[in-house]
Amino acid sequence: MAELSVEHLLGIKYLKEKDINLIFKTADHFKEVINRPIKKVPSLRDITIANLFFENSTRTKLSFELAEKRLSADVINFSAGQSSVKKGETLIDTVNNILAMKVDIVVMRHASVGAGVFLSRHVDAKIINAGDGTHEHPTQALLDSYSIREKLGNVKGKKIVIVGDILHSRVALSNIYALQLQGAQVKVCGPTTLIPKYISSLGVEVETNLKKALEWCDVANVLRVQNERMDIKYFPSTREYTQLFGINQDILDNLGKKIVIMHPGPINRGVEITSDVADSNESIILNQVENGVAVRMAVIYLLAQQVKR
Ligand code: CP
Repeated sequence: MAELSVEHLLGIKYLKEKDINLIFKTADHFKEVINRPIKKVPSLRDITIANLFFENSTRTKLSFELAEKRLSADVINFSAGQSSVKKGETLIDTVNNILAMKVDIVVMRHASVGAGVFLSRHVDAKIINAGDGTHEHPTQALLDSYSIREKLGNVKGKKIVIVGDILHSRVALSNIYALQLQGAQVKVCGPTTLIPKYISSLGVEVETNLKKALEWCDVANVLRVQNERMDIKYFPSTREYTQLFGINQDILDNLGKKIVIMHPGPINRGVEITSDVADSNESIILNQVENGVAVRMAVIYLLAQQVKR
């Protein structure tokens, strides 16, 4: 059976194109499974998975938990807010206590960049990065590419613009790596203050005019402004941000072509995207959420094949 070339899913940066193809092929199978009347397979009956969320999450946490349960794994959940982390326990102590309970796979979201890599060097379990600070969110990028492939037939050759707060976004960086690995062209669009200085070194062009960016692209992946990661003002006001970078139906109607609208969530309706666009036929936002379960089932299933029994 084909195997992933990596021992953990720490970032898209570490994957090869063949890994993405294998994950998508496996996800195709699981997407069929989750649309059956009985949405569950016994594949991981002997696997225990811990979901460690040190940062808030709705979609990713629920999606991983559902994916694990659909695979019949045993699942334990941990949220930092209700844990002994509040009493000063270190990350390694927390995780080692959980692993002492014979856990095979750890899914972790953490505010620190590189937390997943750090963990993978110190504990004997498969690690899946569910978002590390402003760095990477690999399963989000995988489900985004999977959704583009489903909607447009292929990712190769497609033009994708990522709009919004690129500077603080782990979704942006993982998407850039994933899309380029599959042969897509990527541009970013947003206020200059929210575009990282290193972006050109990734082979990504910057377009600060939203209309031009949308005229160029096949797909717009819209990101929210991450106010919780900002300790200074990056633009004068939310109103001005929306005027310059908010996507509304008028802008889309004037493009003279249809483009696909994506958003990883959570959405700030009326700021980066209007409700009519988010809920329109061009939007695949809920398809992304549905595909997230199948893609995460695929990642977990493939890593579980490497667990020594
Ligand atoms: N897309 C995403 O990561 O959403 P959550 O923060 O709700 O998990």
